[in-house]
Amino acid sequence: MRQIVNTTNGSYEVLYVQKVPDPEPKPGELLINVKASGLNFADILARKGQYPDGPSKPCVMGYEVAGTVEDVGEKVDSVWMGKEVICLCRFGGQAEQVCVSEQQVFEKPESVSWEQAATIPVNYLTAWMLLVVMGALKSYESVLIQNAGGGVGLAALDIARHIGATTYGTASKRKHSFLLERGLNHPIDYRNNNWYKVLMKLTERRGVDLIIDPLGGKEWKRGYKALRPGGRLGMFGISSASEGPESGWQSYWNMAKTAAQMPFFHPLSLLNKNHGVFGVNLGHLWDEQEKVTIWMKALLEGVQDGWINPHVDRTFAFDEVAEAHRYIEERRNIGKVILVP
Ligand SMILES: NC(=O)c1ccc[n+]([C@@H]2O[C@H](COP(=O)([O-])OP(=O)(O)OC[C@H]3O[C@@H](n4cnc5c(N)ncnc54)[C@H](OP(=O)(O)O)[C@@H]3O)[C@@H](O)[C@H]2O)c1
Repeated sequence: MRQIVNTTNGSYEVLYVQKVPDPEPKPGELLINVKASGLNFADILARKGQYPDGPSKPCVMGYEVAGTVEDVGEKVDSVWMGKEVICLCRFGGQAEQVCVSEQQVFEKPESVSWEQAATIPVNYLTAWMLLVVMGALKSYESVLIQNAGGGVGLAALDIARHIGATTYGTASKRKHSFLLERGLNHPIDYRNNNWYKVLMKLTERRGVDLIIDPLGGKEWKRGYKALRPGGRLGMFGISSASEGPESGWQSYWNMAKTAAQMPFFHPLSLLNKNHGVFGVNLGHLWDEQEKVTIWMKALLEGVQDGWINPHVDRTFAFDEVAEAHRYIEERRNIGKVILVP
């Protein structure tokens, strides 16, 4: 089978497609024939050596796939054979075949394509954690979605709309008309304006009840200031540390700068302001599979009921993986980018 290998830290030349023997499922695992595989911002950071959770290199990235069950290992019910499924994988998903543990496999709803199915696990589970599990967003509240035009941003918008909250979202200007069509109430052009000032003006200086922020660094400081009493700040990424395709000293410098700009939250400030802060890292929940399964089932019901609308921006063939990385780094995507064998 073919798989996408990331050989070392670097620019696009460190990615290539190689042939390896087909994998065999261990006890408790299923062998999946991959039809579509999600490309995530984490894969970009990993390529540049900015993602400590990634496997050591050379490695095959890939947190999520959609495909069919080709084989099952010992202790797995053979009823899975041939089923169309969506899976979370702890890497290895950017390949024609991958073995995954039974707990990480879910039946694919018929209403979505392979590509749409592969957008669901990472983006929607992260957004669910941020908005529902930890953010506890309510219909009478407001939420600022930073990076609303990203995959997690679009997923968060679906969920916030379902809850009935008022939505504010930051994105490049050219993404605004798409976001308005998807139901975002207030797009903010954060690349040409100070989003904090725009948000405070739009909210008549009251701020919002929940902010979800994958930018990191100084944006978390500003986000905290933009919370209403009772407000929560959910932090889940450091996109602002990722400028340019190269690895090396520049990317270490960007990481160090972003880290130095991060805020510290004093308990007395939290208490007196009625504020909450929390972090989300989906990649650290592999031991919480029971909860993840409950969340995933709620999301798949959302697909059946029609309030979850997985959006695929663009599909690239495995051989075009370098182009796919570049496409995301140049901020050309609105939502998910998918790789197909
Ligand atoms: N903690 C977790 O569990 C978890 C899970 C999933 C994702 N994340 C994080 O969430 C963030 C967004 O992920 P995603 O999957 O939604 O990403 P995505 O779909 O690839 O979207 C990326 C978008 O982010 C914006 N952006 C901001 N800074 C950027 C930069 N320096 N370089 C390129 N684009 C930049 C761009 O939108 P504009 O053009 O509008 O600026 C771009 O289109 C990433 O930091 C990712 O690591 C965290």
